[in-house]
Amino acid sequence: MPGLVIVGAQWGDEGKGKVVDLLAEQADLVIRFQGGNNAGHTIVRDQEVFKFHLIPSGILYPGKICAIGNGVVVDPRVLTEEIAELHRRGIDISGLRISANAHLIMPYHKLLDQAGEARLGSLQIGTTRRGIGPCYADKAARLGIRMQDLLDEKILRKKIYAALEPKRLMLRPFAKDPQLDLHAMTEDYVQLGHRLEPHIADTAPIAWRTLDRGELVVFEGAQGTMLDIDHGTYPFVTSSNPVAGAACIGAGVGPRSIDEVWGIAKAYATRVGAGPFPTELEDALGEQIREAGGEFGTTTGRARRTGWLDLVALRYAGRVNGFTGLVITKLDVLTGIDPLHVAVRYLGPEGATFEEFPYHQSILHKARGDLVELPGWHEDISGARSIDDLPRNAQDYLDFISDFLGVPIVMVGVGPARDEMIWTGAAERVRPAAA
Ligand code: GDP
Ligand code: IMO
Ligand code: MG
Repeated sequence: MPGLVIVGAQWGDEGKGKVVDLLAEQADLVIRFQGGNNAGHTIVRDQEVFKFHLIPSGILYPGKICAIGNGVVVDPRVLTEEIAELHRRGIDISGLRISANAHLIMPYHKLLDQAGEARLGSLQIGTTRRGIGPCYADKAARLGIRMQDLLDEKILRKKIYAALEPKRLMLRPFAKDPQLDLHAMTEDYVQLGHRLEPHIADTAPIAWRTLDRGELVVFEGAQGTMLDIDHGTYPFVTSSNPVAGAACIGAGVGPRSIDEVWGIAKAYATRVGAGPFPTELEDALGEQIREAGGEFGTTTGRARRTGWLDLVALRYAGRVNGFTGLVITKLDVLTGIDPLHVAVRYLGPEGATFEEFPYHQSILHKARGDLVELPGWHEDISGARSIDDLPRNAQDYLDFISDFLGVPIVMVGVGPARDEMIWTGAAERVRPAAA
């Protein structure tokens, strides 16, 4: 299985980082393919917590080749800080590679992100304000600055000038902000370029060669399917494509290099920021799940909205991505909640029902999940290491999900630690020897 894509199947924060960390032991290359430091991927290793925003989640294995692909937008200051922090903690980052073609988040992107949200007022998207949207907008407008531009001061200055000019009007409220001075910005970014230069590389050929040797490449997604700019709940989405198809574009490989696509989903649902959420629980139970699951954003610290598992959205995600396997995380968080509910269709206004995920925003914004009740369990499941170790009702809950989607479950998370994971038979091919 040389090419395995890991994608978020819901609204992000499904536990992709933990899954990639586990798979990285067997992988020869881990490559991030989209998003930027709007992502926050948490890994718990020997009770030590690591939070990655840009660096691929395989970096904790010494010397592992971990690439930031061309599809990622990189804030070079955040990246240098992340590298410095890993250095401080004694982590070997010699395997880090950054695509020379990755686009850079510039100070004006962050200011524009904030200003855009302020302008929207009560209609705001609730972005992470990291400059992600404006950076991808410049990429599409062919006004982007790329990693390779950091290595040539003259080119860099010219490109920053060209990118700044058309934004003068929008940036007028920040006219006196020293960050926007062309020369200071150029100098600052040249310095950051010096620090990152040892890691800058042509990352696509690294992926080709690894695939040619038949070795395992893990394509690490950020965000989730429902935040996809084409397939998610537009406009309440991010500005990239977190779906599996984007792995090819954001890493520079062809579709035939992808052998498996695993969707990562929590056993319930969460969302950060605004937008439709048909199974949202705005009551004490929602609060209980937030507390039990530690549902506070890794990047912004915001409380995540919580709700029941939405199988309508999850089946849609299965279609859009072409899941070959499903990973259910945080099953342990549901322990003690009895009965449980899952949404199997949507109820619209005036008695309408929707078996499939509706494309029309007016329907989606009003849709509520039609819930079926499933029995819960009360036993502590954090020690379970095989499906048979789980209580019958937990096994039935997983079977219900798998049957509804028609996709096998390959792993089940029963706690945040590395070993708190059940590997089902379907995942044998990539299972580390120790697991
Ligand atoms: P990502 O953005 O998809 O990588 O996910 P985040 O790291 O933002 O959020 C997932 C959170 O759940 C992290 O704090 C993980 O440590 C934690 N986590 C992952 N899997 C499990 C699990 O199976 N059980 C529990 N209780 N926590 C988990
Ligand atoms: P990981 O990789 C959860 C959400 C933001 C906002 C919307 C747009 O950790 O799963 P943006 O800053 O991207 O323009 O914000 O997308 N969002 C995430 N939500 N997890 C993430 O990443 C997210 N990245 C962006 O909250 O609603
Ligand atoms: Mg996250």
